[in-house]
Amino acid sequence: MYVSLDEAAEILKKSGIVAIPTETVYGLAGNAFCETAIARIFAAKERPFFDPLIVHIAEFEELDNLAAEVPKSARLMAEKFWPGPLTMILPKKENVPNLTTGGLSAVAIRMPKKQMARDIIKLAGFALAAPSANMFQHISPTSPEHVLEQLGSRIDGIVDGGVCEVGVESTVVGFENEMPVIYRPGAVTSEMIAELLNSSQLQILNSQPKKTGIVSPGLLQKHYSPNTPLYIELPSEVPSNSGLLAFGELPANSKDFAKILNLSESGNPTEAAANLYGMLHKFDSCRLSGIYVTLLPQAGLGNAINDRLIRAAGS
Ligand code: TXA
Ligand code: MG
Repeated sequence: MYVSLDEAAEILKKSGIVAIPTETVYGLAGNAFCETAIARIFAAKERPFFDPLIVHIAEFEELDNLAAEVPKSARLMAEKFWPGPLTMILPKKENVPNLTTGGLSAVAIRMPKKQMARDIIKLAGFALAAPSANMFQHISPTSPEHVLEQLGSRIDGIVDGGVCEVGVESTVVGFENEMPVIYRPGAVTSEMIAELLNSSQLQILNSQPKKTGIVSPGLLQKHYSPNTPLYIELPSEVPSNSGLLAFGELPANSKDFAKILNLSESGNPTEAAANLYGMLHKFDSCRLSGIYVTLLPQAGLGNAINDRLIRAAGS
């Protein structure tokens, strides 16, 4: 099941699908221009065809091969944050299959920071479409073992790149009148983008995706879910056999929980992001009646973690 970088590239050239490490989460990769490979990705994940895939590139020149137009702000963001956990949605060129973009006229593009990911793209010789390597609406994988568990029998190989250092999916940004709009918060924060573009943070944060039509279809309310019910509040009376996903100091009634995992004892959001999915996976194997968690302070990476927790709770 585990394959080398060269083997992964060979599989990809034959329209196969391989799980690859990135700095955010593992991706299930296939040739972005090959409909056979793309169809297999959707089938393996049981993901609906309307939910488009991110196309991963290794060189800056590839941006203009995929995008028909690149606003100035997008170029600045690419220069500053690529390679890294930033995905930009731009009008697509004809050569990008509609299957890859879920029928949308825009394509999501990202250059991952993880060297292994870029090496695989270069060895394959084409851009790679890669959604997170999990079953649709389940928890994203941050280790090769997570991938093996969920998708092992459905894919052609896994490249072992260890545990993902960022731990939450990339920031997804679209553009409205050249201004970035954050569709999915991530490690490239609204504060960082606002600083780069000398714009006020509010302009970015307040611009929610349009309510009409599916702007970013992955932003379905229930997403990233563990099998155990997750609650975004602490119970006044702790039900039996429940888990606490803590951040920083433990609450007074913490001794009543059957199992406690702490995202970051020191209250560090970066550490919390890296631990998030691994801990949800761990809780899922504990057969608890429920998992209780409180949201982080709503700033920086805390936005991304809270976004995933709210979706995991499906509320
Ligand atoms: O960090 C990441 O972004 C990881 C790694 C593997 O790169 N990938 C990832 O892919 O999280 P996925 O498919 O699980 O999430 C991609 C998100 C979805 O919410 C999808 O709807 C949105 O990006 N998206 C992709 N293409 C889009 C497009 N053309 N227009 C709007 N939203 C798009
Ligand atoms: Mg995903």
